[in-house]
Amino acid sequence: MTDLNPQAKQMADESMVRNLDAQARAIWPQEVPLIRRYALPAEPRILDAGCGTGEASWRLAELFPRASVLAVDILDQSLDLARSRYARFAPRLRFDHQSIYELRAADHTFDLVVCRHVLHSIPHADRAIAELSRVTRPGGYLHLIPEDYGMLHFQRAALDPRDFWHDAPAKFAAATGTDLFLGRHTFGILAAMHFEEIKMDYIIVDTLRVPRETFAAIIEAWRDGYSEAIGQFTRFSRQSAADYFNQMIANIRDPRGYAVWMVPVASARLR
Ligand SMILES: C[S@@+](CC[C@H](N)C(=O)[O-])C[C@H]1O[C@@H](n2cnc3c(N)ncnc32)[C@H](O)[C@@H]1O
Repeated sequence: MTDLNPQAKQMADESMVRNLDAQARAIWPQEVPLIRRYALPAEPRILDAGCGTGEASWRLAELFPRASVLAVDILDQSLDLARSRYARFAPRLRFDHQSIYELRAADHTFDLVVCRHVLHSIPHADRAIAELSRVTRPGGYLHLIPEDYGMLHFQRAALDPRDFWHDAPAKFAAATGTDLFLGRHTFGILAAMHFEEIKMDYIIVDTLRVPRETFAAIIEAWRDGYSEAIGQFTRFSRQSAADYFNQMIANIRDPRGYAVWMVPVASARLR
């Protein structure tokens, strides 16, 4: 049987709390204009599926002051942290233990369904997207960040990061039954379903648009959370993975260095 949560250990690691914080600080400022495009009712019902520590959930509640936001995840420690951090938004913002494969909401419940940084890390992304579409109301919107590890570019130094990014995610994905290049495949998944206005946009996390320390904090968290599993699943040892990550971090911190992570945002409207 396929493990439906193959990154459970990494998601529960303390490094993930840092990672989600840094990712949100890097990404959200460019994401807001994309979210504002959606024609939502005055009191939108929003689902944040796979909410983690609630970084996007509270930002959505703040962005839409009359919205009700349901944020779900299967990791109780993240849900507890989110509930304690963002109690000020209750009861408009609720955190609940639910799986993205089997949501408890009735069909056509939400005006906006958000799913960020989740679908590449679990198997059967298409099944999860079908479940998200089930709970979206006709005319409502799906807003996804399906990561793609072929969209990160760093400068070469003693090591060539292209070797790492070319090989490690493919092997990691094969070992975990996931698609770590999901970004480029999401359009096709949506096009095969009942969606219209399908768009692919990109948030550019680079050393010009995002503070170097914020970008570096993301890669530091990946180093701390994922080097061991990379050592297990790929031809790179744990130490070698850490060496590559450390070089990428130095690249980002170098005032003359340039690095970029292109973060795909897929959105669509349910017919
Ligand atoms: C990288 S975090 C993203 C958190 C959040 N969406 C954000 O943007 O900050 C991925 C989350 O997906 C959750 N997850 C994994 N499988 C899930 C499932 N079947 N149902 C709900 N959440 C799931 C993990 O527990 C983890 O908290």
